[in-house]
Amino acid sequence: MQLLLNKKIVLGISGGIAAYKAAELVRLLIQEGATIQVVMSDAALKFVTPITMQALSGNPVFISQWDNRIANNMAHIELSRSADAILIAPSTADLMAKVSLGLADDLLTTLCLARNCPLLLAPAMNREMWDHAATQRSIKRLENDGVALLGPASGFQACGETGMGRMLEPSEIAEQLIAFFQPKPLTNKRVLITAGPTFEAIDPVRGITNLSSGKMGFAIARAALEAGAEVHLIAGPCDLETPLLATGKILRTNVVSAKEMHAATLASLDCDLFFAVAAVADWGIANPSKEKIKRRSQTSPQIEFTSNPDILQEVVQSVKIVNGKLRPYCVGFSAESTELMKNASEKRIQKGIPLIVGNIGPDTFGSDLNQLLLIDEMGQKKLSRATKLQLARQLIQSVAKKI
Ligand code: C5P
Repeated sequence: MQLLLNKKIVLGISGGIAAYKAAELVRLLIQEGATIQVVMSDAALKFVTPITMQALSGNPVFISQWDNRIANNMAHIELSRSADAILIAPSTADLMAKVSLGLADDLLTTLCLARNCPLLLAPAMNREMWDHAATQRSIKRLENDGVALLGPASGFQACGETGMGRMLEPSEIAEQLIAFFQPKPLTNKRVLITAGPTFEAIDPVRGITNLSSGKMGFAIARAALEAGAEVHLIAGPCDLETPLLATGKILRTNVVSAKEMHAATLASLDCDLFFAVAAVADWGIANPSKEKIKRRSQTSPQIEFTSNPDILQEVVQSVKIVNGKLRPYCVGFSAESTELMKNASEKRIQKGIPLIVGNIGPDTFGSDLNQLLLIDEMGQKKLSRATKLQLARQLIQSVAKKI
């Protein structure tokens, strides 16, 4: 599936060494179905040639506001009127300063001032330039004007220094652009998500847990953020990075045990949507040892189990009807080893939730791919095999209609 199909993007390139990465970016955006019109600043021409960009984008490149190829000689107006967004990658400190002040002394900056479409900037500069008070003032002005900043990242820089200011990789910029264009049906809605496994300690080095990478829950958190929601992600032990977008960030609470997840969830109940994606351990350890249990021959430790609270069921008890709709609207997940349809349907009724999502197939654990079965009072709907993020986007759009 092409995720930028029919999107018209003006890709601006300003004069930084990261300009060489713009060539790869053009290819990635075109692979996703976008039409790319490249506009380069004078300084960008020192780093890459318009011929490279024309060959990759399939469109003549614009480099001057005096270009007479457009009939009315107003490239700065024409190019932005036909665009869905202007993306400038790399965006130098100089370009950001000019755009933040409304200066317009070449085609690229004039285009930014004359535009009637969103502007996204992928900054790229030396760490001292990024940290400079003048650049930070530019950033504040740009953000106040609704300009989206993609990055920068921190890391090794072309100048040999290490720090903040590296341009995001082309694949990350493409991902951020795709996220930017997702529909926003959850604007002003609060979404609470539990994700990952829980870990129940037997002693300081041992414990029991459930198989769960957290990838599905994190994908749902990202998709909810893309859809405009304010997202709180309560995560059991997993190594995943919190999704971050130009348009916002996720509040993340890390927990270890089911009891901690339970407490964190109940403290955050004021939400419109609740996704219980976590694989919560059904039992905790009643008698955990404070010290490591020593291995002794012939004897094995006596472990007592205790039932963990059912987090989803307790959230369901707090549901109210607001303006004729359930609040929070609760979505449960079901990972079954047999009879998914039957077991998940029964679980939906037993938990008293409007929607349950079944993970189809035995190979979903840890994978980036999944298939889902959505079961509600109307029946079932299958979301066929795709990345967890693509499935999460479909799930979010489908649930958004219900609230
Ligand atoms: O473990 P089970 O299959 O019953 O999980 C079904 C749903 O209930 C999942 O959405 C899971 O996150 C939720 N659950 C919970 N608290 C538990 C057990 C499960 O919230 N203690």
